Parts: sequence; C-alpha cells; structure tokens
Amino acid sequence: MTKSQVSTLVEDPASVDAAIESRFSARAFLPRPVSRETIAEILRVARRASSGTNTQPWKVYVLQGKSRDSLVEKVCAAHDAIYANPALAAEYKEEYDYYPEKWASPYIDRRRENGWGLYGLLGITRGEKDKMHAQHHRNFCFFDAPVGFMFTLDRAMGRGSLVDYGMFMQNIMVAARARGLHTCPQAAWNGYAKKIILPHIGAGPDEMLVCGMALGYADETHQVNSFHTPRVPVEEFTRWLD
Ligand SMILES: Cc1cc2nc3c(=O)[nH]c(=O)nc-3n(C[C@H](O)[C@H](O)[C@H](O)COP(=O)(O)O)c2cc1C
Repeated sequence: MTKSQVSTLVEDPASVDAAIESRFSARAFLPRPVSRETIAEILRVARRASSGTNTQPWKVYVLQGKSRDSLVEKVCAAHDAIYANPALAAEYKEEYDYYPEKWASPYIDRRRENGWGLYGLLGITRGEKDKMHAQHHRNFCFFDAPVGFMFTLDRAMGRGSLVDYGMFMQNIMVAARARGLHTCPQAAWNGYAKKIILPHIGAGPDEMLVCGMALGYADETHQVNSFHTPRVPVEEFTRWLD
C-alpha cells in the first residue's frame, strides 16, 4: 500500500463485510490448485495484523504437493492407529490447552450444538463411532484442500502472542475470501505436533504448533459446506457503559 493509511478510503465497505460474513469453516474442497502467487499475496496482506509491540510472532509453513500429501499420509495413519488402539493416544499430547479442562455452560452447550449440528447434517447419529471417526479423519486430509498451513510460535513467547496469532489467521481467512477462496482453521492437528508435524515441516525445537489451516476452493455441492453456525446476538455479549 503506497497511499497514506490515514487517508485511505474504504470505498466499498459492503465488500469488506461480505468477505468477513461469508467466511465459514469449509470442510470439503475441490482439487483445483491455488497458485503460489495467490498464497503469497494472502500472506502479504495478512501480515498487516496488529501484534503486541509489533512482535509479529507468526511463523507459517505452507504445504502443497508432496509435503502436504506425505503429512496427510502420516497423520491419517496415526489417527487410525489410535482409533484401533486408544491406549496410543497417550503418545499424542497437545502442547497447549486449546479447550478448558472443565467445560461449563454456555460454552459446552454451544459446543454440543455445533458438534451435533454438523453430524446431524451428515446423517451421523449418537453412537455411530465409525462414522464420527471418518468425519474427524477428514481433518487430516485438509478436507481435500490442496493447500495446508501449519502455524508455529516460539515457545519463549507469552500467551499474548496467541491473541496476535488469532488476528493474523483471521486476516488470512478474510483475504482468502477476497480471492474466492475458503479456509478451515484446524486445531485437530495439534496432538500430532511433536511426534509428526514439527519434524515433518522442519520446525526448530523452540517452536510449538498453534494450529493448522486448510485453504482452497470450497466444494459448493457438498452438503457439509451448507452447515451454517449461529451467533449470539450482540446484546447478549455486550454491555454498554455510560
Ligand atoms: C483456532 C480454531 C481451530 C479450529 N479447529 C477446527 C478443526 O480442527 N476442525 C474443524 O472442523 N473445525 C475447526 N474449527 C472451526 C470451528 O469449529 C468453527 O469456526 C466454528 O464452529 C464456527 O463456525 P464457522 O467457522 O463456520 O463460522 C476451528 C476454529 C478455530 C478458530
């Protein structure tokens, strides 16, 4: 951007809103490739995210082609092995608590509504463990997206860097929308970080995995992509103080 940021006029605010509001977690992608230039452009825009004292803590690994396919193969195999022998799960610990240890209302209710809403749409009912496993497994194929991101953070950084990271990732997802692309942020990978993902991407010992993300052209005909998540009204989470 060469123009002054102060005087830049967002001439089409509706497009900005549309990019934000049309973002959703796509869970079925077309094999259509995404050019390296497009990915680079998205990252170039996304890096304008704010971060505490401009620390810019993000480190991004872009997986396509062979690097993507071989990671998918390794993690899918591990995921299947755990399904066959749940005792193996102990070997795959997440490095940070994405979710609370003890769930409470209203979060647990929203989580359940989300899970059963998605499974219900796919015709999966309670107790259908194989089908649930198969759907969860789709994460580890990046939902067939041709591009996978892995985001890492220096372990030395504080929790605030995760706040910064969220802004950066949201920028990626919105910038992707501006280019006709869709995304799915994925914490599902996190348990496989230490044993499989970090060595696979060549991350240093000081890095930890924040999460992954699928990027590509969403399959409009796939039912899973018709899943629309609700939001609580603004009045419910906002207090106006005079
Ligand atoms: C950091 C992060 C990690 C997520 N991890 C996963 C994941 O592993 N698999 C998945 O299918 N969705 C994942 N999601 C998507 C959420 O389930 C989704 O954002 C939420 O249900 C709201 O739906 P929407 O994104 O379609 O608006 C993740 C979202 C975030 C922000």
